[in-house]
Amino acid sequence: MTRLTKWFRRDNQVSGVSMPTGSLPQHVAIIMDGNGRWARRRGLPRSAGHHAGMRGMRDVIRASDDIGIPCLTLFAFSTENWTRPETEVEYLMRLPEEFFRTEIDELVERGVRVRFIGDTSKLPAYTRDTVTRTLERTTNNQGMIVTFALNYGGRADVLEACKRAAGEVAKGTVGWDEITEKGFGEYLSTGDLPDPDLLIRTSGELRMSNFLIWQAAYAELWFTDVLWPDFRREHLYQAIHDYQRRKRRFGGVK
Ligand code: IPE
Ligand code: IPE
Ligand code: MG
Repeated sequence: MTRLTKWFRRDNQVSGVSMPTGSLPQHVAIIMDGNGRWARRRGLPRSAGHHAGMRGMRDVIRASDDIGIPCLTLFAFSTENWTRPETEVEYLMRLPEEFFRTEIDELVERGVRVRFIGDTSKLPAYTRDTVTRTLERTTNNQGMIVTFALNYGGRADVLEACKRAAGEVAKGTVGWDEITEKGFGEYLSTGDLPDPDLLIRTSGELRMSNFLIWQAAYAELWFTDVLWPDFRREHLYQAIHDYQRRKRRFGGVK
């Protein structure tokens, strides 16, 4: 394999990457980016890229479950994505219905617990219905937790957590001094999940775009040029292999 670095990969040729074993990230978070460019390169409308991106989601969910990753979080729609053309937003808002219609039985069979973070109250009614139905179908499952970030923004998440903490203080149930970093993390939308160990972003962009900004403080970052609709289980495996070679120091000395 050519042009390897431990943090950025230009190489799309991943055939033959083996299934990772050994110490796995407990939480993988993915910024699924590049759908629009995937479509443009084929002379197709952006919506075709979003549609094709569902294949990537199916692949990473299956792969993560197959190797035993406990938590997977997928960034599907940001608080900033509302600024896109109305037709694109509407298309994106209709995708969850199609995705879960085709995937729900397999997710249930695998015991996947689906969750959503972000302000789902602002989603159109048809998207909210899908959210509700999906939660109902998977809430009692005991397997991998797959969290979809829908209308999610990291800053909004932190701000909401501040408000919740302040509310508790105002009620007198918690004292200011009792709020620790760990305790504050529990007010966030990902409250009961471990912080992401590995944060993947596709499409060559090197930024966080307001995803899990608090939680990813010590995540290992992994970037690839691969556009999201082309992302397959082997890319995930490669990211995990690279992750396993990293030395995580958390500010200490090893
Ligand atoms: C990611 O692909 C999907 C969403 C952000 C909803 P994009 O739509 O951002 O694709 P590019 O970045 O324009 O190629
Ligand atoms: C981040 O991608 C949001 C999602 C993947 C849902 P964007 O395409 O919206 O991010 P920017 O605009 O390139 O930062
Ligand atoms: Mg993008």
